[in-house]
Amino acid sequence: MNLCWLSMLFAAASWSSWGAALSTPCQLKETHYGSVCVCNSSYCDYLEQPVLGDNDQIVLISSSKNGLRFIRSEGSFLDEKALEVQDQQWIDSNFVTDTLVVEQNKVWLQFANISQRFAFNVTIKTVQLTVQREVRYQKITNFGGAFTGSVSHIIQQLPKDLQDHIYKSYFHADGIGYNSIRMSIGGSDFDLQPWAYNQLPRNDPLLSNFTKLDSRDLQKIEQLKRLKAIAKLNNLKIMAAAWSAPTWMKSNNRWTGYGQLKSEYYQAWADYHLKFLELMQSINMPVWAISTGNEPLNGVIGFFFIHFMSMGWTPWQQAIWLNDYLGPTIRQSKQSQVLIFGNDDQRYTYPSWFRKMRASRTNALDYLDGLAVHWYWDEIFGPQLIDRAHAEMPDKLILNTESCIGDKPWQTHGPELGNWGRGESYMRAYMQDLLHNFNGWLDWNLVLDEQGGPNYVHNYVDAPVIVNTTSRSEFYKQPIYYAIGHFSKFLPEQSVRIEARTNETESFAQLSVVGFQRPDGSVAVILYNGENLPVNVALNDSQRGEFNMRLPARSWHTVIYK
Ligand SMILES: *[C@@H]1O[C@H](CO)[C@@H](O)[C@H](O)[C@H]1NC(C)=O
Ligand SMILES: *[C@@H]1O[C@H](CO)[C@@H](O)[C@H](O)[C@H]1NC(C)=O
Ligand SMILES: *[C@@H]1O[C@H](CO)[C@@H](O)[C@H](O)[C@H]1NC(C)=O
Ligand SMILES: *[C@@H]1O[C@H](CO)[C@@H](O)[C@H](O)[C@H]1NC(C)=O
Ligand SMILES: *[C@@H]1O[C@H](CO)[C@@H](O)[C@H](O)[C@H]1NC(C)=O
Ligand SMILES: *[C@@H]1O[C@H](CO)[C@@H](O)[C@H](O)[C@H]1NC(C)=O
Ligand SMILES: *[C@@H]1O[C@H](CO)[C@@H](O)[C@H](O)[C@H]1NC(C)=O
Repeated sequence: MNLCWLSMLFAAASWSSWGAALSTPCQLKETHYGSVCVCNSSYCDYLEQPVLGDNDQIVLISSSKNGLRFIRSEGSFLDEKALEVQDQQWIDSNFVTDTLVVEQNKVWLQFANISQRFAFNVTIKTVQLTVQREVRYQKITNFGGAFTGSVSHIIQQLPKDLQDHIYKSYFHADGIGYNSIRMSIGGSDFDLQPWAYNQLPRNDPLLSNFTKLDSRDLQKIEQLKRLKAIAKLNNLKIMAAAWSAPTWMKSNNRWTGYGQLKSEYYQAWADYHLKFLELMQSINMPVWAISTGNEPLNGVIGFFFIHFMSMGWTPWQQAIWLNDYLGPTIRQSKQSQVLIFGNDDQRYTYPSWFRKMRASRTNALDYLDGLAVHWYWDEIFGPQLIDRAHAEMPDKLILNTESCIGDKPWQTHGPELGNWGRGESYMRAYMQDLLHNFNGWLDWNLVLDEQGGPNYVHNYVDAPVIVNTTSRSEFYKQPIYYAIGHFSKFLPEQSVRIEARTNETESFAQLSVVGFQRPDGSVAVILYNGENLPVNVALNDSQRGEFNMRLPARSWHTVIYK
């Protein structure tokens, strides 16, 4: 072994141990719908977790439609002048739309090919933002995404360094600080094909062939071990859910369609869950929580347009299974600490699903530690449905357990690289749910390919990170990734929501906000400006006094101070 080789080995070793935390800027690339940040094996953007120095320091992290991605600016409560976030103006030869130029308190519209500016003399709005940390609400438990079969398959094909950048981008404190994943027990819709444990032999309630983890899960577990090491994450909260039982347990003997669990297999289906928990524990990858099953209504009414794995439950039947079988099986086992979440379906089933469960088995809900909600129809069904469920069950956690864009029949595209509007949909949704007692959010696929798959029923959707599976040498961080990151990166577990409100009327709001106090005592407020105009913010913290900011058009921010 010569010395040159040895020094290369050391260089490689220090690289793979990720050395000291360093911030690296986004490699912004213009795409059809906007812009994305490009990562390859040797480069990816990270932001060192801000550490507050003196007591008056204010750190502001910003992203914008014009191209800011986690840009850090600093101010102080002692400053007289407002902290102004400088946004880029993209005036280049390809620029075909109009630009907003901001000077003093005026906004000018600059047309691309005309040197003259048109003054609109719009006065920039000032919004008062009041923060009261004495008024406290729910605690944060976890943020994360789904490690589906498709995700595992895509990651496995990439060079190791690129895999590591995906793990670090999502789960490291210098990435967006996820602490949780969702995974399926057996297959889900995002897999290469439908599957379940003990599909063979048939009619085998003792599950005699469910004695070890499937090779697909073993691959995921190897990946998760690497993920934990890269992210320096000791406590990964794994949430597991089954999409369907093996077909022989079901009334229709199929993976999809109108089909329910046969009542003679209620105990076998509870044992199936326990076996999975035991096998995961035995391989040192304990499960934090399970749900009573993914989207139970797909196998009751949803099968008209849903063709992936599903298994139907009515709330009355599910209460019987939970109360008489699953609940006692888990609670009387060595896996009794595993949390159980109910529903795992759309918001429009709240709160009536739980009322019907209670009508069927009075105490069934006692087995539930939390409520799991999918976001897909949230723009039609308001958060009041969740408020009602929370009022009836105030001690239960509430998590959003699935979200993605492109699921609707009228949305023909999967991924739209660079689409800021899709990021804004996430921004509004996370903000709304957090203002309605949610404790966290698990997004859908962590990564997908350019088409929005792979998916065995051609149900292609978008994801926060899209991998170039042609070159296998790059991936693209979408605006959605940063939208989620403005929450997940800055809100560690045990952060508590506090009162933060603006003086705008809700129907004419330019600025939306949600505030938290973090376990170290510091405050983090997430701000969303959805208008094509800048906005001035006069923050008034009940304990710290005033601080002024100017935020650019179409932008997201997290402001942090002690
Ligand atoms: C990776 O990205 C960096 C930053 O954009 C670039 O300088 C470098 O050439 C890229 N490496 C490869 C192998 O493409
Ligand atoms: C701007 O001017 C250039 C050259 O004068 C022309 O090629 C381009 O099409 C113009 N763009 C628009 C949006 O009019
Ligand atoms: C804009 O305001 C300036 C003074 O602040 C005034 O001179 C100018 O006429 C105004 N322009 C328009 C278009 O209203
Ligand atoms: C057990 O399951 C495997 C597939 O996971 C299958 O190949 C095998 O035939 C099954 N064994 C029996 C006895 O059915
Ligand atoms: C993926 O990489 C290939 C080869 O470098 C390139 O031609 C293609 O444009 C890339 N795809 C995207 C979506 O950027
Ligand atoms: C909110 O406060 C700002 C700053 O005091 C004020 O200019 C604005 O008119 C207020 N907005 C409303 C809707 O009252
Ligand atoms: C800031 O809020 C406090 C109450 O928490 C209030 O007394 C004070 O007048 C406010 N300051 C301004 C400038 O509105």
